[in-house]
Amino acid sequence: MDYRKYIAERIKVDGVGSEEIQSLIAVPPNTDMGDYALPCFRFAKALKKSPVAIAQALAADFVTDDVISEVSALNGYLNFRIDKQGLMRSVLSSIAEKKEAYGSSDMGNGKTICIDYSSVNIAKPFHIGHLSTTVLGSALYKIFSFLGYRVVGINHLGDYGTQFGKLISAYKHWGDRDDVQRRGIFAVNELYVRFNTQATEEMEQEAREYFRLIESGDKEANELFDWFKSLTLEYVNRIYDRLGVKFDSYNGERFYTDKMQPVIDELREKGLLKESEGAQVVDLEQYGMPPCLILRSDGASLYATRDLAAAYYRKATYDFYKCLYVVAYQQNLHFRQIFKVLELLGKEWSKDMVHVAYGMVSLEDGAMSTRKGKVVWLEDVINKCVEKALKVIDEKNPDLEDKQAVAEKVGVGAVIFGALYNNKIKDIVFSYDKVLSFEGETGVYCQYTCARANSVIAKSDGMSCVLPEKLEICPQEFEVIKALAAFPDAVKDAADKYEPSIVARYAVDLSQKFNKFYFDCKILAAEENVRPQRLAITKACLTVLKSALGLLGIGVPEKM
Ligand code: ARG
Repeated sequence: MDYRKYIAERIKVDGVGSEEIQSLIAVPPNTDMGDYALPCFRFAKALKKSPVAIAQALAADFVTDDVISEVSALNGYLNFRIDKQGLMRSVLSSIAEKKEAYGSSDMGNGKTICIDYSSVNIAKPFHIGHLSTTVLGSALYKIFSFLGYRVVGINHLGDYGTQFGKLISAYKHWGDRDDVQRRGIFAVNELYVRFNTQATEEMEQEAREYFRLIESGDKEANELFDWFKSLTLEYVNRIYDRLGVKFDSYNGERFYTDKMQPVIDELREKGLLKESEGAQVVDLEQYGMPPCLILRSDGASLYATRDLAAAYYRKATYDFYKCLYVVAYQQNLHFRQIFKVLELLGKEWSKDMVHVAYGMVSLEDGAMSTRKGKVVWLEDVINKCVEKALKVIDEKNPDLEDKQAVAEKVGVGAVIFGALYNNKIKDIVFSYDKVLSFEGETGVYCQYTCARANSVIAKSDGMSCVLPEKLEICPQEFEVIKALAAFPDAVKDAADKYEPSIVARYAVDLSQKFNKFYFDCKILAAEENVRPQRLAITKACLTVLKSALGLLGIGVPEKM
């Protein structure tokens, strides 16, 4: 239940909308005065009264009920108290009944969301820079599905361009079939790097010719290309499996080869194409952007051309409600251009395209740079996290069963959580020690909290969870209850803002509140009258925490 909304709808201030009132309502740092507070200072001007008088008048008008049991005015603030018993009963019964569906919704029914994420480049390294798009996109996929949307996950493969001609040329000169077969993408990548540092002018020429051959359907060139592509996909799929990431479509740039012409024709018909130094462009000067390149002077298409064709295709195929692009902020301009060109083409659905931009990930030691050939492969980062997790588990709980499987969940979870915990637009510095800390704001901490709840539940056999007639609720319990009640809104908020970090932060907040409750209050050894509710709270926390982590793509080991 959204208390802010509930309260805001019951307050009338002339000239101020209920949404604005809702946005002003806050949870006070100290809940002695109330669970929610509305500062009335902003209304003083409109109402020509002092905030103190306004708060008093609003308090007098407010009708309490079994949701909000108390209202008071103090120093220009209106303070609200939630009916604790009512809330506890409704939240716990709702979670016990809906289980992992608690927080889900049908608000998205009948609507489709396309999400373009991960979108790896064939034959190029899948490095730590791809972590964010992969896990952000996957989390958004899960969040929107949870809210009832049909989601189409698209891996817009970077499988088009002159670099594939270069690769074939390099392979022809220096390649060794067995080596490539054995070492897969690593060998392929080395060939590519070698071409970029050692290719002669003749080889450059040859590369252009090979690219033309791929385009014209030449058998040998295409076989090699397909081989490199399948080696790349083999590698990335291994990582996707570990991260629990899935796609519904792998239609990459190449897929649009024969789908660009209609877009180019339409651009021309609508008078949007202009010649500029031999190239065909859409002039965007009056929108404060450089021109969007559509065709090079040699007639070749560009990244933007293929993205325009892809947008047409997605609209026609999926009739999306929203089409998201989870791509680094370096491509801000590219997407602004694409969306603007679609708008100029008269596509009213261009307003439904969203660039979900995110910041850079680097490692603590500064390693990241691809240019110097010093690439940090994503798989190595994951492996290192799993290894370190195993070490910690060995120390903490040497007798644990299935240590390797637990370490996998913890290590992978640490990587995912580390990438999702901060607001997505922020650049992050990835630190192994930080993401694997049991005490910090980490996935491990949340997983450990689940294990703790699990072990309580495992010992509770036969104990009742039926709440008594009259509930006595301590502050620690009530904090947990409020947090549990906030889950559905956290999920919706994360979807509205395309911000999985809201769910990640929620998971940490719920974990912290549960742990405080766990350490301050007895659960199984509690008095008869409060034991059922404490056990019910423990079960509810486990359910919701698992759901929250699940939405991020993080699994929860039973024991740790
Ligand atoms: N392959 C591109 C890159 O690595 C990302 C593609 C994003 N998706 C898109 N439709 N442009 O930079």
